Amino acid sequence: MNKYNPIIALDFPTKIDAYHFLQPFEEKLFVKVGMELYLQEGPSIVSELKELGHDVFLDLKLHDIPNTVKSAMRGLAKNGADLVNVHAAGGIHMMESAVEGLEMGTPTGQKRPLIIGVTQLTSTSEQQMRNEQKIHLSLEDSVLHYASISKQAGLDGVVCSVLEASAIKQNCGAHFLRVTPGIRLLQGQEHDQIRIATPEVAKAEGSSLIVVGRAITQSANPVETYKLVKQQWEAKK
Ligand code: C5P
Repeated sequence: MNKYNPIIALDFPTKIDAYHFLQPFEEKLFVKVGMELYLQEGPSIVSELKELGHDVFLDLKLHDIPNTVKSAMRGLAKNGADLVNVHAAGGIHMMESAVEGLEMGTPTGQKRPLIIGVTQLTSTSEQQMRNEQKIHLSLEDSVLHYASISKQAGLDGVVCSVLEASAIKQNCGAHFLRVTPGIRLLQGQEHDQIRIATPEVAKAEGSSLIVVGRAITQSANPVETYKLVKQQWEAKK
């Protein structure tokens, strides 16, 4: 896995759009396939991207009863994604079942995909969390709690915002991955994200991997913008 490359979110409606976007890139990338593309194109999109040499984060954020998540993960493990995820709100048993499913589905001799837990979405504010989820903690404490149960369930890390990355590193250890979306370049737009940061701040705050979507995919020159993001991300390594 290109562990340190920024992950580009391929949030496109079809694979024609995704391949059109990827075409000018000369290097192998770490890309994220989310539900928009996956639900349109199906599992073959993952194997095709792998055949092109890219690393793939399959971001389906599963959240269901443990048995269903286990069976789904068993299937997902077969198509070669490097990284998958579940909602930590599904609970410890569900997350343990997800890991079990991945282990069952991984072809013999191969390493199982890494699996991370979604804590609180980076589009969620503390006020929303309190009013709508009725969680009466600070947002950071809620994220830390979800990180801690994700670790307890045997997950490899979590998705969180940059704002919580350093506390998670401290609580869960440096090897527990902190994958952070909500990345914007200084002059960029926020879109619907709330807890945002630049690539340099993400690095300084202890993100293990950054996920960047619209700041790259909607820029006038995606290749140049990706280079800029990568440069900023690697600057403080
Ligand atoms: O365009 P933008 O950079 O905001 O895209 C971020 C990507 O990361 C989206 O594909 C979104 O689904 C994903 N994501 C997120 N927050 C999470 C988990 C995933 O924004 N907690």
